[in-house]
Amino acid sequence: METSISHCIFLLFTTTLLVATNGYKPVIIIHGMLDGAPEMHFMHDMIIKAHPGTNITIPNAYSYKRSLEHLWDQVPAYKKAIQDVINESPDGVNMVCYSQGGLMCRAIIEKLDNHNVENLILLSSPQMGQFGVPYMPNLHTSYVPELPSTRTEVYRICYDLRAIGQLISVCEYWNDPYHQPEYLRSSDFLAVINNQSAHSESQQWRKNFLRLKNVVMIGGPDDGVITPWQSSHFATYDKNLNITEMKDQEVYLKDYFGLKTLDARGGLHTYGIAGVIHTFWHRNQTVFDCCIEQFLT
Ligand SMILES: *[C@@H]1O[C@H](CO)[C@@H](O)[C@H](O)[C@H]1NC(C)=O
Ligand SMILES: *[C@@H]1O[C@H](CO)[C@@H](O)[C@H](O)[C@H]1NC(C)=O
Ligand SMILES: *[C@@H]1O[C@H](CO)[C@@H](O)[C@H](O)[C@H]1NC(C)=O
Ligand SMILES: *[C@@H]1O[C@H](CO)[C@@H](O)[C@H](O)[C@H]1NC(C)=O
Repeated sequence: METSISHCIFLLFTTTLLVATNGYKPVIIIHGMLDGAPEMHFMHDMIIKAHPGTNITIPNAYSYKRSLEHLWDQVPAYKKAIQDVINESPDGVNMVCYSQGGLMCRAIIEKLDNHNVENLILLSSPQMGQFGVPYMPNLHTSYVPELPSTRTEVYRICYDLRAIGQLISVCEYWNDPYHQPEYLRSSDFLAVINNQSAHSESQQWRKNFLRLKNVVMIGGPDDGVITPWQSSHFATYDKNLNITEMKDQEVYLKDYFGLKTLDARGGLHTYGIAGVIHTFWHRNQTVFDCCIEQFLT
């Protein structure tokens, strides 16, 4: 009995010490399309195992079917959900953002003046958009039957502002290489956060983006959903469906929103990893060990 009490006290003592001195910044995890906070528990558990005591926030906003709603409508809810942890963390926070959630995170960061997000970790996130309709039965049968299943036809809906178009999240980052003028004209999300379409606050948004210390881009050829998968590395298709790498794009070359400046500063980290399908990026221990953990300090 006596030993077990002193053991308890010892445990209590070390736990308190750990929390007080662990030094890990709080982490915010943002889920992707057609999933929600519950699916992010894998990432939560890997972080806690590696860095005990980390304060982790996983907003349970716009989950599942609601993740398909207009992205700009979603942004305020996420901002609200993470405001406290951002305000109460003078040493900064880190963000792990999965798939569509990575676009959400970039939008939040660009719009948040004086934020203290240090490292932004993008897990298979279509940062230069999507041009492919993956086989997702739920997406077609119950959620958005309006979207054609042939990718060359999707623009008719997505870029048509009189139709439901930009009210479906995926349309807001649909990037059709055969219809670039229409993309630039109608994309009210990706083209805007990329500063491909001028707006009055682009200078401030760029400044906010550049408050980040590191952007970590993780993706790979076996993803199966993000198309082209290199969009996770800010690459895109050209008219021949060849890949235009990030560094050959105007957005980068002219530093539209700060990517080139961040890169020049050594703040861009690219990881291409084979053998991971889309729904496993946030639960793969190898990926966590190689490419995520080191940025969560
Ligand atoms: C994380 O930190 C925030 C802000 O200080 C706090 O509101 C929240 O309760 C903390 N969460 C946990 C699990 O400790
Ligand atoms: C992007 O933002 C800058 C201001 O920071 C502006 O000068 C530039 O024209 C913008 N790019 C486009 C394509 O509008
Ligand atoms: C681009 O695609 C075309 C047509 O598919 C092909 O003929 C060409 O070799 C490709 N160019 C490069 C640089 O890969
Ligand atoms: C985890 O990632 C490694 C590569 O880092 C890959 O070889 C393996 O197949 C992945 N496992 C799963 C279940 O995704």
